[in-house]
Amino acid sequence: MTKEELVLEAINAQKLSYSPYSKFKVGAALLAKSGKVYLGANIENASYGLTMCAERNAIYNAYCNGVNFDEIVALAIVAQGESPVSPCGACRQVMNELLPKNTKIFLANLNNDIIETTVNELLPYSFNNECLDI
Ligand code: THU
Repeated sequence: MTKEELVLEAINAQKLSYSPYSKFKVGAALLAKSGKVYLGANIENASYGLTMCAERNAIYNAYCNGVNFDEIVALAIVAQGESPVSPCGACRQVMNELLPKNTKIFLANLNNDIIETTVNELLPYSFNNECLDI
């Protein structure tokens, strides 16, 4: 699957967004080695802090469907905007723990702008499970 195809999947996931408060629709699509794609969209709440971001929903969706860490190949995230969407800090922390280091991460907007990045580029010098080894 090409990065453009995975971004198209994420654009489809955007339609699932429940975002009456921000009106900012985000979609995400995680590609597994099997070729299967796991979608996520941002789901908001009147108690704003309970909102769950699209990319975390896609990652959790994959895990809940039995995808193993080593089977994750790529993650595309898309939102409207002049530049490709920038994942929030909480999502970067979750990506750091639940995605392999070599996962291709595609950040996109609706104008075909796609940035390819990595977990490490998004969160250098991270706090992770190795830091707990005291
Ligand atoms: N949001 C995401 O789902 N992913 C991102 O990468 C950026 C932000 C959502 C959270 C909230 O529903 C809305 O976008 C505005 O912050």
